[in-house]
Amino acid sequence: MKKILVVDFGGQYSQLIARRVRECRVYSELIPYDTPVAEIKAAAPAGLIFSGGPRSVNESDAPAVDPEIFSLGIPILGICYGLQLMAKLRGGKVARLDLAEYGGRPLSVIEPGGLFEGVPAETACWMSHGDSVVEAPPGFVVTATSPHMPVAAMADRSCGLYGVQFHPEVRHTEYGQDILKNFLYTVCDIAPTWTPVSIIEESVERIQAQVGDERVVCGLSGGVDSAVAALLTYKAVGDQLTCIFVDHGLMRKDEGAEVESTFRRHFHVPLVHVRAQERFVGKLAGVTEPEAKRKIIGEEFIRTFEDESHKLGKAKFLVQGTLYPDIIESGTKTAAVIKSHHNVGGLPDDVDFDLVEPLRMLFKDEVRVVGEELGLPESLVWRQPFPGPGLAIRIIGEVTWERLDILREADAIILDEVKRAGLYRQLWQSFAVLPAIRSVGVMGDERTYAYPIVVRAVTSDDAMTADWARLPYDLLERISQRVINEVPGVNRVVLDVSSKPPSTIEWE
Ligand code: XMP
Repeated sequence: MKKILVVDFGGQYSQLIARRVRECRVYSELIPYDTPVAEIKAAAPAGLIFSGGPRSVNESDAPAVDPEIFSLGIPILGICYGLQLMAKLRGGKVARLDLAEYGGRPLSVIEPGGLFEGVPAETACWMSHGDSVVEAPPGFVVTATSPHMPVAAMADRSCGLYGVQFHPEVRHTEYGQDILKNFLYTVCDIAPTWTPVSIIEESVERIQAQVGDERVVCGLSGGVDSAVAALLTYKAVGDQLTCIFVDHGLMRKDEGAEVESTFRRHFHVPLVHVRAQERFVGKLAGVTEPEAKRKIIGEEFIRTFEDESHKLGKAKFLVQGTLYPDIIESGTKTAAVIKSHHNVGGLPDDVDFDLVEPLRMLFKDEVRVVGEELGLPESLVWRQPFPGPGLAIRIIGEVTWERLDILREADAIILDEVKRAGLYRQLWQSFAVLPAIRSVGVMGDERTYAYPIVVRAVTSDDAMTADWARLPYDLLERISQRVINEVPGVNRVVLDVSSKPPSTIEWE
């Protein structure tokens, strides 16, 4: 499979570049900037993209690549910092001009063709930079300029080297996707063949190669990721697979029964439903620290799978629906640990399984498309994400049966009202959070001292960033009235109006 490697210099849009390339039906992966050239050569990408980054190439310890990379004969597109680095390493000049450019800017194409095939001479692009290339390196021609920038784009076509100061991956760049396509399809000569069908075929082959004739168990959560991972594995190894659904008592209202009935209806894979409510909630008694909760739940999941696997006759492999953002957010070379997701960083060290993670290089929207291709029902494909540690990370402070009941009831009302308002699919997630404080209220002339419920609703493409959803006031009013009237122990409803970053979607 021909692929593009995005060399990540820590830019805020690095992820987005990889996604945009994939939207052009070309597989792409992020790699850290210090990946050795020999490793890049061995991966044999059809093209490289250097991402943007927050530093200046003129700082002595600025992230750089080994200039050897230019002798591989692989086409390279440098974006923003990537362009500046290419300019500097090839003998051009980069300097801080008086005028930094941020936001939408006009772009004048002066050398049509190449990256700019089909792009008008005057167009709009998105800039975000302090430094500028003030002199293109020998062998390069300047292909576009902007009002304050002598070099908004440059190219050395004979060496397959291209650079743009603006961000083609950002929607505000009018012809951004066309520019990327020109790089992929013409410069790198890749055909757009990375489709849901090809993803399925490749995953099935990879799972077969990994698993051989061993037994496999798959943890089903009821969400689209684990369902797709299970179906891919079933396609690959058939009855060697048993699915295990662990009800840890931290599920939403009626969720356990719903998950079981959906799977029995749509899957012909053997399914074991483990009722482990007491086991998990018992282990969480007295625990208030978020990372401690996550680690306990991660460990208990694995121990439960091990127990069940022994009953079934010992499986060697455990399938998980881990996604690409889970891998990145759980701490890689370039990303700090924000939260230990239970299916990645929250795993204990001594896991008695080898992991099969067929979705580890995919984003959620890609998994949904694969799910549709596999014939999963719409209700499952478009189910809002629900975290592995469940309601435990939405109850701030101690998890108790009483507090679980309060949160479950409030959450069910929020989801019900969001669905009635026709907003369920537009929202990435919408749910309730139970803080560890109480406040005074008055109900039926009596003083109350009870919990508030936080309404958390966000829009997002991939959970890496998110915005708080502007829910209509009448919807908020219905949620507030119903939660306060129908959920004992709650006397106040508040709205979370924080985006990610700086907040996260979940509260813990
Ligand atoms: P945060 O709170 O980090 O969440 O902004 C990003 C997305 O990930 C989900 N999430 C998890 N999913 N296991 C999961 O499978 C986890 O431990 C976990 N923690 C958060 C969260 O619901 C959101 O969609």
